[in-house]
Amino acid sequence: MYIGIDLGTSGVKLIMVSKEGEVIASQTRSYELIIPKPLWTEQDPNDWYKQTISGLKALIKGHEHQIQAISFSGQMHGLVLLDNQDHVLRNAILWNDQRTINEVEYLNQTIGIDELLSETGNIALTGLTAPKVLWVKKHEPDIFNKISKVMLPKDYLAYKLSGVFATDVSDVSGTLFFDVKHKIYSKKMLNILGISEMQCPKVYESYDKIGVLKDTMKNELGIKQDVDIIIGAGDQAAGAIGIGIVNDGTASVSLGTSGVVFVASDQFKVDQESFLQSYAHANGKYHMMGVMLNAAGSLNWWSEKIFQNYNYQDFFQKLEQTKIDDSLYFLPYLSGERSPINDPNATGVFFGLRLEHRKEHMDRAVIEGVTFALKQSFELIKNLGVDIHQVRLTGGGAKSHIWAQMIADIFNVEVKTLSIEEGPALGAAILAMVGHRAYPSVENACEHMINLKSSYLPNLNHVELYQQKYEGFLQIYPAIKKTYKSLQNIYKS
Ligand code: XUL
Repeated sequence: MYIGIDLGTSGVKLIMVSKEGEVIASQTRSYELIIPKPLWTEQDPNDWYKQTISGLKALIKGHEHQIQAISFSGQMHGLVLLDNQDHVLRNAILWNDQRTINEVEYLNQTIGIDELLSETGNIALTGLTAPKVLWVKKHEPDIFNKISKVMLPKDYLAYKLSGVFATDVSDVSGTLFFDVKHKIYSKKMLNILGISEMQCPKVYESYDKIGVLKDTMKNELGIKQDVDIIIGAGDQAAGAIGIGIVNDGTASVSLGTSGVVFVASDQFKVDQESFLQSYAHANGKYHMMGVMLNAAGSLNWWSEKIFQNYNYQDFFQKLEQTKIDDSLYFLPYLSGERSPINDPNATGVFFGLRLEHRKEHMDRAVIEGVTFALKQSFELIKNLGVDIHQVRLTGGGAKSHIWAQMIADIFNVEVKTLSIEEGPALGAAILAMVGHRAYPSVENACEHMINLKSSYLPNLNHVELYQQKYEGFLQIYPAIKKTYKSLQNIYKS
């Protein structure tokens, strides 16, 4: 049996999978999201560990002697700091934390985008790890001076379970101190941050075995045999493995809290405007992705927070009764935005409200706005010469047939859904299998395990209407971009 552990933002999901890909058991545990100030997000790595062990014990009960390998998927970019006694120095600063606006400005403007692109293949974004290191250096020098180990979230779990200080190529790609193309740390970037390679984990491919489960852990879990620890991947790469996005040019759209357009690539490619993230993939190759911060997150905000309505079937049915060519728009920048505008000051906007609008029109605008924003990333990827004929749809939003059809119509591409939706945890379990040599490669494992379910073809009448509407959508943000910034300055002063 193989175990995939996905260390997410709202909780940890653990699954136990047979070599054939059958999910035998699963467990989830949640932990607190700490918001010390608006737009700051933190979690306590000790909570991650406690909840993971609690989930692991329940997961393997009765199967202890069958466990062969464990691997991980994790929320990316988070900064975990340990001292020389391996104590956690402060709460982890998470991927969606926006406190590093000044550090990002310094990196992109003073160090310069050209330098960042040539050193790492990426530019600075508030969510990435490097600006967080600079923030701690400036605001918490006592903590900075005590740093012995700099880690990413899932690597903390791998360290606790194996005692090996390691990371993988996909996750470390999101730090902005890693030369993604050559898969080595960037000495220049480490210098700029004031940390050394000694403080950073050794880098492995995502399917590499880094060690075995520690004896103390084996005793605690009631396991006698050796269990391989495979390092695993960042949640986007692991999620892509879990739905078979491994061959050159295959693409997915994920509708989780965040929304991601992801494409696998045999070659390392960089979007010249640098709106996409160009990272190493968990199959030994590369990938590109556009990440928007609130996809299903916008839907949850609108439906649950504003209307306390949790019935999404009803939501989508009503939305379908409205017309596509209504000119109401929604900009989904509810916590700033990453791809494709990279603007932490941006906020959500309804544009085009009129007296005749009812809630259902606004429902439609929210879902369309998210889908248009995703289409912008999709178009950027296509502009790099990637020919995409099909996207696989995943994440909570993939449950809605109406949203799936809307993606087919707005992207003008065939959309497929999957028969098993275990997300990044399944990707992690597949990496455990490959690391344990149950399959010769990630591609081979995916071929055996991933099955497609439904298909949605673009409705050509809708394609044209949506294209016109998309062109309208593209005009709104540039028109108000400056206002975001000036209003932000008023509120700051
Ligand atoms: C990817 C990203 C998110 C987090 C959250 O760049 O920021 O996918 O990993 O899970």
